[in-house]
Amino acid sequence: MKKIIITIDGFSSCGKSTLAKQLAKELNYVFVDSGAMYRAITLYFLRNHVNTDSSEDVIKALTNIELSFEYNDRTGKSDMYLNDENVEALIRDMLVSENVSTIAALKEVREFAVEQQQKMGEKKGIVMDGRDIGTTVFPNAELKIFMTADPHVRVERRFKELYEKNPDITIEEVKRNLEMRDYMDSNREFSPLRQAEDAIVLNNSNLTMAEQLKTALKWVKERSATLIM
Ligand code: CDP
Repeated sequence: MKKIIITIDGFSSCGKSTLAKQLAKELNYVFVDSGAMYRAITLYFLRNHVNTDSSEDVIKALTNIELSFEYNDRTGKSDMYLNDENVEALIRDMLVSENVSTIAALKEVREFAVEQQQKMGEKKGIVMDGRDIGTTVFPNAELKIFMTADPHVRVERRFKELYEKNPDITIEEVKRNLEMRDYMDSNREFSPLRQAEDAIVLNNSNLTMAEQLKTALKWVKERSATLIM
């Protein structure tokens, strides 16, 4: 089967990364979690107290940031590295979640991340999830999926995930953060979260992991088949 580019966009905690990982494993594709890149940049900005009101300071900070993904044998997925430091756990922290949408809205930050993301897709055989992947990063992708899930399902999923690491977290805190990020991501000036016109919607509120994978694989086969002809 010819290798294609698969984009998965959608609101927070819809299960985009889960589906992206499933597809990458099944198809032997590269999986890129673009949100992890914005989270790592945010961690750097927070640690270094970067003044986000100054374009000059933002550009200077970005020149000091090197992002990479490295496969972790133990977890079976790639970890995010910021300047050679494994920051996979740190970037999932609430402090990063509270600031990431502000940092990700900056024009300079978007240009920095999008350029690297586009390079990763040059050889195709990639599945990338995020907010603007089907619209800005890979507008010509062969398969674009826009994922949705009912808001209460999303809050519960994310709460469960975070509670395992931090039992002090409350469901209200998680709900507030998802609502705030979804609003900011959808209303920002550069590359807002939008469903691409040619994206297929996948609502996974009532789907099992196996069902969502089966649905997406059917689409991959259909899209790849049209390429061969
Ligand atoms: O896992 P979750 O869906 O909650 O978020 P994420 O994919 O880790 O992304 C974290 C944040 O990064 C989002 O809320 C956006 O503000 C930003 N982001 C973005 O602006 N563009 C992307 N392509 C991916 C993430």
